[in-house]
Amino acid sequence: MYELYPYFTNDGSVGLFSPSADDIYHSTYGALTEAYEKFILPANFEKYFKKNKSIKVLDICYGIGYNTKSFINYFLEFMSNDTIGSDNINKDNCNAQIYTNNKKLYNSTVELHTNNQKLYNSTVELHTNNQKYNIYINAIDTDKILANLSPFFITGKNNIKKQQLTFKQDKIKKMLAEKTKQIYSLKTETKIILLNLLKDNIDSESENILFSKKYSKFFDRSIIDLYKFYKSKKDKYTPLSCLDSFLHNIYYKYISSSYKNVLKALKMANFNFDLNIEDARQVLQKDNNEYNYIFLDAFTPAKCPCLWTVDFFKLLYNHLDNDGMILTYSNSATIRNAFLNAGFCVGKIFSESANKFTGTIAVKNKALIKYELSEYDLGLMKTKAGIFYRDENLNGLNEAIINAHKIEVENSNLESSSKYIKNFRRNNDL
Ligand SMILES: C[S@@+](CC[C@H](N)C(=O)[O-])C[C@H]1O[C@@H](n2cnc3c(N)ncnc32)[C@H](O)[C@@H]1O
Repeated sequence: MYELYPYFTNDGSVGLFSPSADDIYHSTYGALTEAYEKFILPANFEKYFKKNKSIKVLDICYGIGYNTKSFINYFLEFMSNDTIGSDNINKDNCNAQIYTNNKKLYNSTVELHTNNQKLYNSTVELHTNNQKYNIYINAIDTDKILANLSPFFITGKNNIKKQQLTFKQDKIKKMLAEKTKQIYSLKTETKIILLNLLKDNIDSESENILFSKKYSKFFDRSIIDLYKFYKSKKDKYTPLSCLDSFLHNIYYKYISSSYKNVLKALKMANFNFDLNIEDARQVLQKDNNEYNYIFLDAFTPAKCPCLWTVDFFKLLYNHLDNDGMILTYSNSATIRNAFLNAGFCVGKIFSESANKFTGTIAVKNKALIKYELSEYDLGLMKTKAGIFYRDENLNGLNEAIINAHKIEVENSNLESSSKYIKNFRRNNDL
């Protein structure tokens, strides 16, 4: 039987516990906050979007989609902050752009010279109309139900108060009582976009969960109503007009000033989203894309080693743009050494709010690394702790990969990590 155990995390977003995996999918500290801090903040998307109009993101282990949601959310914020708007572009820039562009834009420059501010803005608009952002997200997960339900999960701190927690009640309550500052919350519009993107993928099993009483308190009613509305109209419209009527309905039902910004953002971007319900190793062997960002959010290496092997990382190498970046939450020497042996340059992720290193990045272009591995990190990778997982044919079972790794560690002559750490501390007076 398929079982979900949802609970509200500290920032109000829903986390999940899986009895079959015997693991939580999201940190109780805050599922959305975690996604934002681990995958969005270190990626420096602002810098990227100022230079590029097209982006390909690979979300490995999509789950209920917090990493993709946070990414779309970030993009909407970036657009509504008008980063590419008139305030940031001076007339000289506009001219330079226009003279290298086509006739239509050239004409509008002539007008620009005769009347400044208003026409200056209209030039910017032409410029942005000419170059829409292209957003492509490829999401992969083996769990179809989770992926299908992802846009529906409620977020919002107020929900915590109404919640009757049943899962590990004491532990969760204690954690919720600890005060943490909420630094991130999801724009409702993000859910709307995702609902659009996922509209054809909802199957009956997911619907049963979606409409069951057991889980009802976790789902966003307004989105569910919109889903029902959409479904009831589905046969009457062609796909395109159906989407229009759906958006139209949202517009009148849930209009807010911020939503206008979203519509603006939608006009300025082409969103394309693929959801692959299959083992990530198989999906990527058939995929020809090169990605600018790869989010790797698998369970821990000890639980899901098949997505942390040197061979899987070699596969990722072929899918990473030369200036691309892989982001993970793992700090382990095993993982860092596997990335190095797969050909990547490896660096660390530093969280300013936590004041500590919270993950690892893998890149082809070393200049993208802000925090280099230290002498200690490099030394640790040369001990038994650096022995990585292998999966040569990219189809091994997790248990088999773990067993082979265990045997390799046992037979290795490398120094043990505990001895290395002890010596390092002694030699460096720590
Ligand atoms: C820690 S959860 C990811 C949470 C997710 N990023 C989210 O926002 O909800 C790990 C996910 O890995 C998926 N998974 C496990 N093995 C996989 C594999 N071989 N290929 C693709 N997905 C896998 C699980 O179904 C689970 O949803």
